[in-house]
Amino acid sequence: MILSGRHSQSLAAELAELLDDALAPVSFDRFPDGEVMASIGDLAPTDGDRAVVVASTPTSESHLELLQLQDAAREAGFDEVVTVLPYMGYARQDRAFEPGQPVSARAVARAISTGADRVLTIDPHEAAVCEFFAPTATAVTAAGRLAEPLPDELVDPLFLSPDAGAVDLAETVQDAAGTGTVDYFEKTRHSGTDVEVSPSDASVEGRDVIVVDDIIATGSTMSEAVGILQERGANRVFVTCVHPLLADNAVTKLSRAGVDAVYGTDTIERPHSAVTAAPVIADALEEQL
Ligand code: R5P
Repeated sequence: MILSGRHSQSLAAELAELLDDALAPVSFDRFPDGEVMASIGDLAPTDGDRAVVVASTPTSESHLELLQLQDAAREAGFDEVVTVLPYMGYARQDRAFEPGQPVSARAVARAISTGADRVLTIDPHEAAVCEFFAPTATAVTAAGRLAEPLPDELVDPLFLSPDAGAVDLAETVQDAAGTGTVDYFEKTRHSGTDVEVSPSDASVEGRDVIVVDDIIATGSTMSEAVGILQERGANRVFVTCVHPLLADNAVTKLSRAGVDAVYGTDTIERPHSAVTAAPVIADALEEQL
């Protein structure tokens, strides 16, 4: 049985179809005092039934709803509760940046662990976040899916990561596309929205460039990279990411920088979610869990 979180309803439906599994009649309500209530419907699991809770957590409330879905599944009598975090919110807070701050990724992982027998997540900022969970937690990549929405005819394509940390994702997309070369820029982050991107000496003039990152949050990183590529005479610039968080004015920043298209997966369901990550999750559930 697939139990969908509020922010993963399309992805959960795709997954249910791929796995030929049922989709639970979840509902999301709110009490007058503002507290949330996620329910799974009146289910009657039989011996050995597994609940797969599929819930991205891009908001603080969605963490609470996830805990409620896990608890309701356990209460209903499922033998196993697998938690799939297509996008794990707070994962980028994987250390205390200043004295007195929490390791938020660890705090949420501990809470999620109480209701999960296994955890699966997609492209967390650092795979080491899996170590914060008590049950077995596995990270898989959906970057290969990002080749699918790209145009068929790419001009001398360059797959570029905007910082060294994402070059493996750029390689994965290039491999899935079966064409082009890979390079990366260097990035220095001065604040949450102020980043400086230093270009490599890769030649981009007249080439289609596909910039690949794990996440677009404020859009600062990508818009800096796109601006440099435009200055250096790139043909078309496509921006791709696994998690299209696209907070605040990120889309406007990218448009102003001159991007040709923005593609993400549905780990976060947005208008720019051009491809589903469901096959990656289905494979992982069938093969690894
Ligand atoms: C950080 O290293 C990540 O890979 C992303 O580059 C970053 O989180 C993107 O954030 P923003 O869109 O706010 O620049």
